[in-house]
Amino acid sequence: MKTLIIYISIHHGNTEKIAKEIAEVLDAKLLKPWEVNEDNLSEYDLIGFGSGVYFGKHHKSLLSLIDRLPEAENRKTFIFSTSGMRNGIAQRPHGSSDFNQLLKEKLLQKDFDLIGEFSCRGFDTYGPFKFIGGISKGRPNKEDLGKARKFAQELLVKLPAGYGI
Ligand SMILES: Cc1cc2nc3c(=O)[nH]c(=O)nc-3n(C[C@H](O)[C@H](O)[C@H](O)COP(=O)(O)O)c2cc1C
Repeated sequence: MKTLIIYISIHHGNTEKIAKEIAEVLDAKLLKPWEVNEDNLSEYDLIGFGSGVYFGKHHKSLLSLIDRLPEAENRKTFIFSTSGMRNGIAQRPHGSSDFNQLLKEKLLQKDFDLIGEFSCRGFDTYGPFKFIGGISKGRPNKEDLGKARKFAQELLVKLPAGYGI
């Protein structure tokens, strides 16, 4: 099975830690959105998308990449994010408390088959938080990385036997 993870991690490299942990379990190739050739994605059986959360959603380069992708014809996908605040607690401008919502909608519109999502906290010094030394210090921590690893192992279990062979 060939797996690709497309991620961007601009603030403190928080999401990169998660991306690498998941990639190790899935033996996945890691690419940034601008390194992706939209026409070559059909060679992958499973594609993951992840970034930090910036103003309530994934990074715009990831979202705009998905807009440019051809129809996914039910290709399996998973998503992940890290955020300063816990996901799901506050109403966001686009009407959902789920930071992953917009990315999920875009992937479903492109006919991806979403088989899992992972979120955890990430060290955040954006805006006023820098004056208090940041929030979610030390995150993702060892426990978060362990959860990311477990998430990836569970993805493998969800795939049909012989998938992508
Ligand atoms: C410009 C900017 C906007 C952010 N907006 C949010 C937000 O809306 N909600 C939140 O919980 N965290 C927010 N954060 C914090 C990041 O989501 C968090 O630090 C994340 O782990 C960054 O991941 P990265 O290091 O992979 O870029 C923001 C950070 C930056 C730099």
